[in-house]
Amino acid sequence: MAFINEDYLKLPGSYLFAEIAKRVSSFKNDNPEADIIRLGIGDVTKPLVPAVISAMHKAVDDMACAETFRGYGPDQGYDFLIQKVIECDYKSRGISLGEDEVFISDGAKSDVANFQEIFSGENIVALTDPVYPVYLDTNVMAGRTGNLGQDGKFDGIVYLPCNGENNFTPTLPESKVDMIYLCFPNNPTGLTLSKAELKKWVDYARENGAVILFDSAYEAYITEPDIPHSIYEVDGARECAIEFRSFSKLAGFTGTRCAYTIVPKTVMAKTKGGESHPLNKLWNRRQATKFNGVPYIVQRGAEAVYSPEGQAQIKEIIAYYMANAKIIRDGLVEAGLQIYGGVNAPYLWLKTPNQMDSWDFFDKLLHEANVVGTPGSGFGPSGAGYFRLTAFGSRENTQEAINRIKTRLSI
Ligand code: MLT
Repeated sequence: MAFINEDYLKLPGSYLFAEIAKRVSSFKNDNPEADIIRLGIGDVTKPLVPAVISAMHKAVDDMACAETFRGYGPDQGYDFLIQKVIECDYKSRGISLGEDEVFISDGAKSDVANFQEIFSGENIVALTDPVYPVYLDTNVMAGRTGNLGQDGKFDGIVYLPCNGENNFTPTLPESKVDMIYLCFPNNPTGLTLSKAELKKWVDYARENGAVILFDSAYEAYITEPDIPHSIYEVDGARECAIEFRSFSKLAGFTGTRCAYTIVPKTVMAKTKGGESHPLNKLWNRRQATKFNGVPYIVQRGAEAVYSPEGQAQIKEIIAYYMANAKIIRDGLVEAGLQIYGGVNAPYLWLKTPNQMDSWDFFDKLLHEANVVGTPGSGFGPSGAGYFRLTAFGSRENTQEAINRIKTRLSI
């Protein structure tokens, strides 16, 4: 008899975006003529930029020739990409990293989901609430929690509420925690932390022997000065933080798959007997065993993101999405809604009108305006009464969605 991992049974029926897709598809079945605009899942709509495409074409040719063909790549990624990451994303901000501290992967989602594996099952996990569901769900799967309570919270998890009252800024936990997930610019709220705020978390982690798992997938969308792009801009972070970055939102790689994770050799965790071990070594061991790397063609495409043409082209696309964010922001403010985010992130977080439940607002928006968004409650109990829209649509769809919200929605 094969037994299952019963921790999976603690999870709600489906992953948030799968549930949304199910509801939209059922609506589409009943209303085949409806012209649906999707501003729900944060998936990009602009194609890969020419610099990336031509680098990938060239890499395809490399694969066709015995002299330049590549089989299995190096475990942590090709040097040509790792060196660009270090040079352009970190050295340019005064952060120095060793080549063996960068791990190229097929996505920040998989890295952030898998990273918890190298920690003890007994660690206490702290999460901001609302939160990108992957951090929570993977810790539930790993058995680090009890059951889901009536209040929408899993036993054993320390929730750090982020809401209108605290300006969506988490406060330090009152009880001791071991693993802390932070994501800034934040998904879903679209808000950021100042360097001084981030420093409080770094200090907490160092004082308590905790590790910060910092998801920085949206850093390219920061438009305001003085907002940290990397946690390593904060003194002491090299001793306590892992950073996840992705080419998905940076350069349209959601379907192409490439990301990287920084694991400084100075981040340590202990055995129960008190012996310190570098997480870098454990993560390398994990990846070498379970992962065979990102295709050469894709890594060449990612390398081209750092070329002068690549940089100019991706900046233009990011500016395009951020102009969408402004259209959503201004339009919804005009419609009388309360809006957060969308200034340093491609996400807009809005308070549902008349204290409407998030899923009720989802249905209303879908039925009355044929616009899809993401219910805030899907990101955690503190997301109840909020709703997320993304700026990743086309200009035309974004304008049309706002127009429909203003004219068709009865609020
Ligand atoms: C989101 O919509 O929250 C993101 O697209 C999810 C992801 O990047 O996996």
